[in-house]
Amino acid sequence: MESDSNDPAIFSKLLLGPGPSNVPERILKAMSNNCISHLDPDFFEILDQISENLKQLFKTNNKTTFAISGTGSAGMEAAFANIIEKDDKTLVFSSGLFGNRMADVASRYGGKVIEIKKQWGKNFRIEEMKETIDSHKDLKIVAIVHAETSTGSLQPIKELGEYIKSRDIIFIVDCVTSFTGINLEVDNWSIDICYSGTQKCLNVPPGLSPITFSEKALNKIKKRKEKVTSWYLDINLLRNYHEESRIYHHTAPVNMLFGFNEGLKICLEEGLQARFSRHQKVSKYFDDIVKSTDFSFFVDKEYESLPMLKSLVLPESIRDEALAITFRMISAVRDNQSLVLISPNRKLTRMVSAYLSNWGIVPDDSAGVPLQLTPPGRFLRLALNLLKGPATATRVFSLLKHPIAHSVENYRVDHLNFVPF
Ligand SMILES: Cc1ncc(COP(=O)(O)O)c(C=O)c1O
Repeated sequence: MESDSNDPAIFSKLLLGPGPSNVPERILKAMSNNCISHLDPDFFEILDQISENLKQLFKTNNKTTFAISGTGSAGMEAAFANIIEKDDKTLVFSSGLFGNRMADVASRYGGKVIEIKKQWGKNFRIEEMKETIDSHKDLKIVAIVHAETSTGSLQPIKELGEYIKSRDIIFIVDCVTSFTGINLEVDNWSIDICYSGTQKCLNVPPGLSPITFSEKALNKIKKRKEKVTSWYLDINLLRNYHEESRIYHHTAPVNMLFGFNEGLKICLEEGLQARFSRHQKVSKYFDDIVKSTDFSFFVDKEYESLPMLKSLVLPESIRDEALAITFRMISAVRDNQSLVLISPNRKLTRMVSAYLSNWGIVPDDSAGVPLQLTPPGRFLRLALNLLKGPATATRVFSLLKHPIAHSVENYRVDHLNFVPF
């Protein structure tokens, strides 16, 4: 039977969202190697390489540094499952969807969660964070997202770590979107548990969560009165496999780790500094274009925003038209058609052209912009942005009678993410 596993209509898509990102050939090739045993000494060498490379990229000397099987959310669960004991006071600074998720996960593992919410798109000020920490006695854990994907905001981790370091508090940082895209210094910033994902700035497919634990975190875990409630994510058991003893825990996703190892090598070959500069350069180029349009930035300009992920607000002037275009995009996704976006609105086509040109695609925007199709999630965000008043994903897709209406989260988003890298 003919296989459709090389169907270019599926596999040539350009990924423009906040992840997954397109995967380099080298990584795909590494993943297609013959599978070997997760207990093969050659495989242990690869695990050692991964740990060493991760240490360089996390900028840490933490011995316990490896990749959890599972996506970024598995890293989040691993952080809270291991560190939280019943009723541990856990302060979460939340500035978007993933901050909210942290608070939810922490409460599921028995934490007494204090969630401090910031208006989406706004950054926490270090002074207000210090005051909040001081106003809560017996805090055991402070958690925050470094780069909030849902808004494009960057939070002041260095200053927060500096403040927490001398206290008996464990500092957890989500760096799913920031890792290898913008500076992150686990040891210098006194971060105790830091986790990421593979499908963002690393350009590896989703499926692993690199994580690192400080001695301070491991000591708290050692003193637990009760077992970690998750067997799969129990760091004590995982260390027995990833560190010297090499005791079987679960079957490691061998080929995924081949690809991950290649992704880390590519990153180190380019060099972190060069990588950060590349993002900054593209970001500046992108921002300059945005400034010449009626679009505005979702993250308040006076605060730092992410160079590798942009959130923009659509101008009023093109909302109606953009809404119509979005619905056509969604229909095309549903019908699996290719799509040519033809818009009389020069500003809109110029914006999309500029965006595509970051990938070397130079559309003929005199006629329209050929837009490659990407998964519906992106269009969902766009559609939500276009509806006036409170909008939920379910509502948008119900309007369209789209089957995804039954499976999307019922949360509200007010902006549109563009990712120029
Ligand atoms: C900041 C942040 N944290 C956590 C996650 C969850 O990661 P995953 O979807 O890989 O489970 C994401 C995913 O986009 C994220 O952006």
